[in-house]
Amino acid sequence: MPSPLSSLTACHHHRVAIIGSGRVGSTLVERIIHKNLADVVLLDIVEGMPQAIALDLLEARGIDGHDCQLVGTNDYAETAASDVVVITAGIPRQAGMSRDDLLKTNAQIVVNVARQAIAYSPNALFIVVTNPLDVMTYLTWQTTELPAERVMGMAGVLDSARFQAFIAMELGICSQDVKALVLGGHGDLMVPLPQYSTVGGIPITELMDTATINRLVERTRQGGAEIVELMRTGGAYFAPASATCLMVEAILRNQSRLVLASAYLQGEYGLKDIFLGMPIRLGCRGIESIVELQLNASEQAALQASADSVSQNIERAVAILGN
Ligand code: NAI
Ligand code: 2OP
Repeated sequence: MPSPLSSLTACHHHRVAIIGSGRVGSTLVERIIHKNLADVVLLDIVEGMPQAIALDLLEARGIDGHDCQLVGTNDYAETAASDVVVITAGIPRQAGMSRDDLLKTNAQIVVNVARQAIAYSPNALFIVVTNPLDVMTYLTWQTTELPAERVMGMAGVLDSARFQAFIAMELGICSQDVKALVLGGHGDLMVPLPQYSTVGGIPITELMDTATINRLVERTRQGGAEIVELMRTGGAYFAPASATCLMVEAILRNQSRLVLASAYLQGEYGLKDIFLGMPIRLGCRGIESIVELQLNASEQAALQASADSVSQNIERAVAILGN
């Protein structure tokens, strides 16, 4: 006989698996349940840790007022039938380390994780967070053999949010009035686009001088490193978790949002066989389309340089994994 209280454990329609329960993963689960977006399965290689985080969050459910189910586990079977799989497993950057230094270790981790996750959730969309981001997204796509529109990397939402924040701080204006756009790989060669970055619809090129814009562009490119240098024991995780949650929400609520994310290119912007940060439309089926902007010659050259760097690292990663 069903328990008279069974309706209190209401089942959400959506299920998100977060692989890697470290700083980004555990902050992301909090963001998701506070929006009552989905049930979440948190997985990590460390025994006990995801279980502890899930239990801790469950114990706050009555205070926080959501009804999401939470499971912490070390077993991929418990992630079965997830709608979205988020990969944050890996090591983060330490002070003085570039994102690309992470390549070898994280390539092996991500391939291993992607292989196990897809076996239990063949219909999921994958969002990759692990660095170096565009390379790890490529490896996830290769490993899962999913159609390209079902695999994407989180970086552009974060990088453009940083540019947005720095513009707002410089002008002393509300961040929400600023729209900022950053293309390219999630690395030092990312391409913030001042001509497409606006305050209330006004391009920032009409509001700030070139030296100021260049300073904000450079701070954006170094946004991750600035936090690593301050933190010394890891990288950013609050803004990355917020950015990933925005993507999860766009998918689960089928919002068809225009966001920046690492997407597979097949000729767009003159680039092929690479994942790179692009404006995309994101909904329940994944990447609905990639938006092609008019770039001037120096922006296109900067995008090409960023793409070349990502391509080289994809080749390095594929070679490392082949050995
Ligand atoms: P963290 O060290 O706090 O968490 C990583 C977790 O992954 C750890 O709990 C670890 O036990 C787990 N892990 C390692 N190997 C695993 C495996 N084989 N299977 C399952 N779990 C495994 O690191 P944090 O700060 O959460 O960062 C995670 C990754 O995300 C890093 O690579 C970092 O560079 C990247 N990152 C990317 C951002 C982006 O914009 N794309 C922003 C912030 C972080
Ligand atoms: C960031 O941009 C470390 O990639 C990470 O904060």
